[in-house]
Amino acid sequence: GRLVVLVSGSGTNLQALLDASADPSYGARVVAVGADREGIEGLARASRAGVPIFVRNLCDYPSREDWDVAIAAAIAAHEPDLVISAGFMKILGAPTLESFPVVNTHPALLPSFPGAHGVRDALAYGVTVTGCTVMLADAGVDTGPIIAQEPVRVLPGDDEAGLHERIKTVERRLLVDTVGRMVREGWTVSGRTVRIGNHIG
Ligand code: GRF
Repeated sequence: GRLVVLVSGSGTNLQALLDASADPSYGARVVAVGADREGIEGLARASRAGVPIFVRNLCDYPSREDWDVAIAAAIAAHEPDLVISAGFMKILGAPTLESFPVVNTHPALLPSFPGAHGVRDALAYGVTVTGCTVMLADAGVDTGPIIAQEPVRVLPGDDEAGLHERIKTVERRLLVDTVGRMVREGWTVSGRTVRIGNHIG
């Protein structure tokens, strides 16, 4: 299966997918990496792996709608079976969401703590268990049907960076496993239930 991965930062989730796809039995490969900004480690990781990159910066477009169309066209050029939004910090608009299935990953147990500061918000709330979520993106912010989740304990003395790194260790494995199963076994969506192969979630 052909994956296009969208990144905005360090790209360690991307790196996990690049590493996994080195094994032909994984069943998927990253055919392109897209970003909303230049100069991020995620793009450098793609280039080191010899994977084509594209950048569509919102400020280069007269409107959000124009950017939505442009990024959908850039993705379409690589004919993905699945788009993975991994640390991509833009909401994808209808031109993308209506053209491709988009898998998103979030460092909290949705519906708790959606948005750009899920780790900070969980810490501030004082939860003792948080986690990560892999879901299908929809037009909202972290509101799509949940595919897989895994809990991660919050430890005394955790700060945001330390907790986020502990979550990301789990998140990278959950994303790689979930995407691999979706590509190898196929998936169906009915309402808010995502079924991979013959079983749910
Ligand atoms: C991940 O935890 C992702 O869920 C969140 O930001 C982080 C991106 O990490 N939105 P990376 O760029 O994949 O290293």
